[in-house]
Amino acid sequence: MPAFTASAPGKVILFGEHAVVYGRGAIAAPVSQVRARAVVRADPHAPAGTVRIQAPDIRLDSTLDQLPDPHPLRLVISALLAHLGAQRLPACTLRITSSIPVASGLGSGAAVSVAVLRALSAFLGHPLPDEAVSALAFEAEKLYHGTPSGIDNTVITYQLPVYFQRGRAIQTLQVKQAFDLLIADTGVASPTSLAVRDVRRAWEADPAPSEAIFDAIGGIALAARQAIQNGENERLGALMDENHAWLQRMGVSSAELDTLVASARAAGAQGAKLSGAGRGGNIIALVEADQADQVSRALTRAGVKRTILTRVATSH
Ligand code: MEV
Repeated sequence: MPAFTASAPGKVILFGEHAVVYGRGAIAAPVSQVRARAVVRADPHAPAGTVRIQAPDIRLDSTLDQLPDPHPLRLVISALLAHLGAQRLPACTLRITSSIPVASGLGSGAAVSVAVLRALSAFLGHPLPDEAVSALAFEAEKLYHGTPSGIDNTVITYQLPVYFQRGRAIQTLQVKQAFDLLIADTGVASPTSLAVRDVRRAWEADPAPSEAIFDAIGGIALAARQAIQNGENERLGALMDENHAWLQRMGVSSAELDTLVASARAAGAQGAKLSGAGRGGNIIALVEADQADQVSRALTRAGVKRTILTRVATSH
C-alpha cells in the first residue's frame, strides 16, 4: 500500500505575540529543525470508514470515532471532509509523529494540523493549495487557542518569514540580511489558550491600558519589519528587549523567562525576549554566529531543557 506523507515545521514568533490577536502586526518565522509528520496508509482489511489514529508521542492510539468530542484532530478531519464535499474517509491508518515540544510556543498544534491536512488530502486524491491548508488549520487553532490570530497556521503552512496582521492577506517578509536566533525551551508547558484568555480578561476588564500595550508592541513589530527589510539587523536586539518589557507588563512573562532573558543578554546576546504565549515555553535570543555556543551554554547553566539555533535566511 502506498503511504501518503507530509510534514510541517515549527514556528517562532519574533515580535508582536498577543498584540497580534488584537489586530496589531507581528513577525514570525518557520523553524525547520523541528517538524510534525503525518503518514496515511489505506487499510483494506479494516471495516469501511475505520480511521485508526496513532500518535505515539502523546500515547494516542484510537479510532477517529473514539476520540473525545471536541478534539482538534476530529475537527481538522471534519473540516477537510466538508471542504472536499466528502462524507467520510476510506478505511486508513493515520500516524502522527512530532519533534516539536507540545505547549512550548513552537506551534506544535498548527504543525500537526497542517501535516495531517496535507497527507489526508493527498490520500484522497485532492492535494490542497496552501490557502486552503492554512484556512482549515485555523479552524483547529480555534479549539487549541480560543481566539487565535491565525499567525501560527499561516507561517507554518507557507514556511516563510511573515509579517502578519489578522484578517489581511499574507505578507511575506523580505529579509535583506540573514540573522541567527537561539531558541531556548524552559521545559515549562504553557497552553497558549490560558495566557490568551488571561490577556483577554484584562482587556475586557479595562481596555485602555491593554490597548496602550498592544499599540506599543505593534509599533515595535513595525520597526522590526523595517529593520529586517533594510538589513539593519543591529536594531533588532534593542527592539526585542523592548518587546519583552511590554510582555512583562502584560503579565505573560514569568520568573523563569525573565531569568533566561537576562542570562542570554549577560552572555552576549544582542537582545532577548519570551516568544509565543509566555508563562513558560520559549525565549529567543538574537546572537552572532560566533557567540551562539557561549549563549547556549549560559542558558543551559540557567536551566533550559534544550536550545535550537535557527537562521532567518535572506529572501531570494
Ligand atoms: C501564539 O503562538 C501567539 C499568540 O499571539 C496567540 C495567537 O496569535 O493566536 C499568543
